Parts: sequence; C-alpha cells; structure tokens
Amino acid sequence: MARMRLDRALANCGVGSRAEVRVLINRGRVRVGDDVVRDAGTNCDPTLVTLDGEPLDHPSGVFVALHKPVGYSSSHDGREAPLVDELLPPEWAGRTPRPEWAGRLDRDTSGIIIISDDHQLLHRLTSPRHHVDKVYVATVDHLPADDAMERFAAGLVLEGEENRPCLPAVLAIVALEGTGAQVSVTLREGRYHQVRRMLAAVGVHVEALHRVSFGPWRLDALGLAEGDWCDVPLPGT
Ligand code: URA
Repeated sequence: MARMRLDRALANCGVGSRAEVRVLINRGRVRVGDDVVRDAGTNCDPTLVTLDGEPLDHPSGVFVALHKPVGYSSSHDGREAPLVDELLPPEWAGRTPRPEWAGRLDRDTSGIIIISDDHQLLHRLTSPRHHVDKVYVATVDHLPADDAMERFAAGLVLEGEENRPCLPAVLAIVALEGTGAQVSVTLREGRYHQVRRMLAAVGVHVEALHRVSFGPWRLDALGLAEGDWCDVPLPGT
C-alpha cells in the first residue's frame, strides 16, 4: 500500500476535511499500529491506521460491485433521486478521490455496476480498446428477425450515428416467453441507451433490461441481492 501523510490518509477515506482530521489527531484518537501519533505529517501505511480503535474504511481504495435496482439514477444530482449514491456508504461522498462508476446504467435498467476510486482503472474498464465485455439480458416484445444477429456482429449503424457504426456485438436468444423473448446482448462499448437503441434498430422493443455481467464479474456468481454491494478482487489479483 502506498504510504502517505497521516492527515491525508484519514481525509482520503472520508473521515473529514484535512482540518477536521488534524483535530482528531491532536486529541490522540488516531493510532498507527499500536502507537498514538499526534503529528499529522507522519508518513504512514493507511492500512495500519485506526481511529478510536477502528480501522479506516477501505484504506487501500474502493473496488466494489453493486446490484442496481430499477428506478435508481446513476447521476450524483439530487434532483434525479433516488440515486445509486444512496445505496452506498454516505462517507464515500467525502472520499478523495470520490468513487465513481465504470459506465452508467439507465434508471430503467437493473444489474451490475462496478464502482471504484481508481479512476484510471475505471477508464480501462470502459474503454472499448481494452475489450471488456458487458452482457445484458433484455426482455423483448417479439423475436428479432433472422438477420439481426449478423447485423449486430457486423457493426450496427444507429440513427444519428451513421459515421460511427457500433463495434461488433453478440446477440443471442436466451428464452422464448409467449410471443416475447429474452435475448442477451454482449457489448464492448457503452453508448447512450445502446442496447435499447440497437434492439430498436432491428425492430424490437425492450420491456426490461438487466446487466448480468461486467468483464469477469457476474451478478449470479457474486450472489448480490438488489441494492446490495460487495468488495470484489481487483482485476489481475
Ligand atoms: N444500454 C441501454 O440501453 N441501457 C443501459 O442502461 C445500458 C446499456
């Protein structure tokens, strides 16, 4: 774990502003290992820091998966409440860097969201160049036409984006349900309402949309109930 000043370690974990955490340090409420440390500038390993005997929250950084329910907005704007933020610990809003999502899900879409304070890593997970597959299951009003799979694989052209075809995507039928169906769509990019627009382009209306996996992280394997989150291992660890 990268070492840093004691006041920064506490402030980064959302304990309070730099000024507020210096008061806590002066009052002897902060230890590094077994030692009470009163010098805010002490170089420390954040994983060894305790406040009133409690370790810091996620001292090595945040990397979690959340099961977003339908109805929650991925924005931080309170006017769009309820927000995904409300499903996470409130102190995270005060962390530095602030945890963000790897790509948004629409309010009407449920499923897995990856959240981290490592913004470089988030960029890698969302950049099409890094080939991270996201798999969605859509409930649709009827089966797409026979050529839809080839059109997805060839790179569909969306309305208004004629100069920029979608990257090849995989469309598959998961189940038939009366006149409707469940289909899966695997994408390597994340454009605005992309799955709904791609399916609309092949004449199909999406009634419900759920993201089942993001790269190696699958909701069913994580066993996450709607609204819950859990720590997940960092990629490559
Ligand atoms: N595609 C959509 O249409 N909506 C999402 O939330 C994600 C992908």
